[in-house]
Amino acid sequence: MCGIVGYIGTQQASEILIEGLRCLEYRGYDSAGIATVSEGEIHCIRAKGKLNNLQDKLMGHEMPGIVGIGHTRWATHGKPEEHNAHPHLDMTRRVAVVQNGIVENYRELREALKERGCTFVTETDTEVIPNLVIECLNQMKATGELSQHPSPLTEAVRRVVNQLEGAFAIVVLCVDYPDEIVAARQQAPLVIGFGLGEFFCASDTPAILPHTRAVLPLENGELATLTPLGVEVCNFAGQRLRKHPHLLSGASIAVEKHGFRHFMLKEIYEQPSVVRACLEAYIDREWTAKETTHPVQLGLPAELYADLQQIQIVACGTSWHASLVGKHLLEQLAGIPTQVHYASEYRYAPPPLTPNTLMIGVTQSGETADTLSAISMEKERRSNLAPAFRPRLLGITNRMQSTLTRLVDCAIDTHAGIEIGVAATKTFMAQLMAFYCLALDLAYQRKTISPDRLQEIITALRHVPSQIESVLADQEQRVEELAHDFSETQDFIFVGRGINFPIALEGALKLKEISYIHAEGYPAGEMKHGPIALLDAKVPVVAITMPGAVYEKVISNAQEAKARDARLIGVTPPTNPHAAEVFDDLLPVPEIEELLSPLLTVIPMQLLSYHIAARRGLDVDQPRNLAKSVTVE
Ligand code: M6R
Repeated sequence: MCGIVGYIGTQQASEILIEGLRCLEYRGYDSAGIATVSEGEIHCIRAKGKLNNLQDKLMGHEMPGIVGIGHTRWATHGKPEEHNAHPHLDMTRRVAVVQNGIVENYRELREALKERGCTFVTETDTEVIPNLVIECLNQMKATGELSQHPSPLTEAVRRVVNQLEGAFAIVVLCVDYPDEIVAARQQAPLVIGFGLGEFFCASDTPAILPHTRAVLPLENGELATLTPLGVEVCNFAGQRLRKHPHLLSGASIAVEKHGFRHFMLKEIYEQPSVVRACLEAYIDREWTAKETTHPVQLGLPAELYADLQQIQIVACGTSWHASLVGKHLLEQLAGIPTQVHYASEYRYAPPPLTPNTLMIGVTQSGETADTLSAISMEKERRSNLAPAFRPRLLGITNRMQSTLTRLVDCAIDTHAGIEIGVAATKTFMAQLMAFYCLALDLAYQRKTISPDRLQEIITALRHVPSQIESVLADQEQRVEELAHDFSETQDFIFVGRGINFPIALEGALKLKEISYIHAEGYPAGEMKHGPIALLDAKVPVVAITMPGAVYEKVISNAQEAKARDARLIGVTPPTNPHAAEVFDDLLPVPEIEELLSPLLTVIPMQLLSYHIAARRGLDVDQPRNLAKSVTVE
């Protein structure tokens, strides 16, 4: 996490850096800071909390310089206080560094630096970097090496990054080399932007797109030296690399609320369009069961599916919940045994190798470190094996220009558009749609589904956008009123079964992350095995009760909760004959076949958590302690 930016050019750097950080604030907002270099001095200003605090501090403050670096922080090492905010300077204030990531061996490096007389003023891992860089430059000067290198700063940074362990991206500036900044990438994203006589670097393209579309993503183990004359790239071994920028398509991202109070609410309302975009992209509009053509066009290579015996999915958070729905679909529709792993667990306890196995990495940002490391590990451990064991890697993401898509063999674009709210809503919906399309594609190709049944599902999917619209139109006010009752509630339980169990988990996660209310999601049948002990009149239970294989069972489980005085909220069609008798409150959703019901049942969950958090007056779009893109393991 954390967002980093760098600028070198002809304009005042501070304004460009702040603009860039504004586009990266989704990566962390514990503190922010910028540093520029001019007239033999580093000017550095930092503030605790959001970028607005830094902007307030900058008012009326002279920040000269056309070269600079900036940072927006998600705290890992050291509390989110101003003294721990980046940029970090060496003790002589000649080098400044911003970092996204973690230097895992910083303790050893710090102790060794201390023994050599260095003093530290922060609790961060990053502070070792400027001190190592200046030490290296001093050594090079003492040994007469400076003149041997076209850019001594690059050489010093190169030597330092070779001492660092962990996943990081850094940008470095130095008063002694005021016409350059050096950027380095090791397992954390960093993109270089090429303007006219000005160059940029940033953790993500939205910070660069307002200035240029010509970008070059750095690869792991690469360093870039940015000067007013151009960009040189080399690897950590010091070999020069010939690299060229490519042009990004698409408009720069407009980050507007369009009259909504929060981005999250706007994004909830965008879900019908997201479903339409997916259907449009991947399902043949004209197809009927009589056709012999293929209805689902994901554009995936045939080798991906050949003799497929097993699927392993790795993901985190909301993407993990979408993957659980995906597992259900892949097993029930396409008959492929599927396991879903927390990406953060997979790397350190992978399942035994199996042949003809597809690994799917699901991540809306395409930058989640846990997911990327799990996939890299899988790729590596399978790389020299017999053909049946070779890696087959598929990504499902919203960001087709992310690190994920460079790591996998191919990817499904979920077409959700940029999501600003930290709580994932429309990207979850888009991931669900990607799984419906994938499962239907596999089922069709493996002949585990009849053409008539396929047509039935596709027809039902086409109704989903208008059904979501009707839930939003009919329910929002009702949910808002209901939310008033729960603004002081301390615990919530969400239950569902079968394909709706992951939706119960997602409902609980949404509530936890934006309203800070403790919430748990359980398979409804599991309550009686322990968690039912938690229930009393103070613990509301949301029960997802959709007609289908588990309907009667969920009704019984809900009754069990009611018998323990829990206030019972039913997410269920209005036609449910038991609704009035069983539930204290209703969040009605239209009738839909059980297999597709997660596409509707998640909407009241999102609205409920949104309205409870808004009612509590919380920062819905930027909840405490979180960041949109989690780029540390
Ligand atoms: O970008 P990703 O989909 O890989 O992110 C995974 C999780 O960090 C993410 O889903 C997180 O749980 C969200 N804040 C959920 O709303």
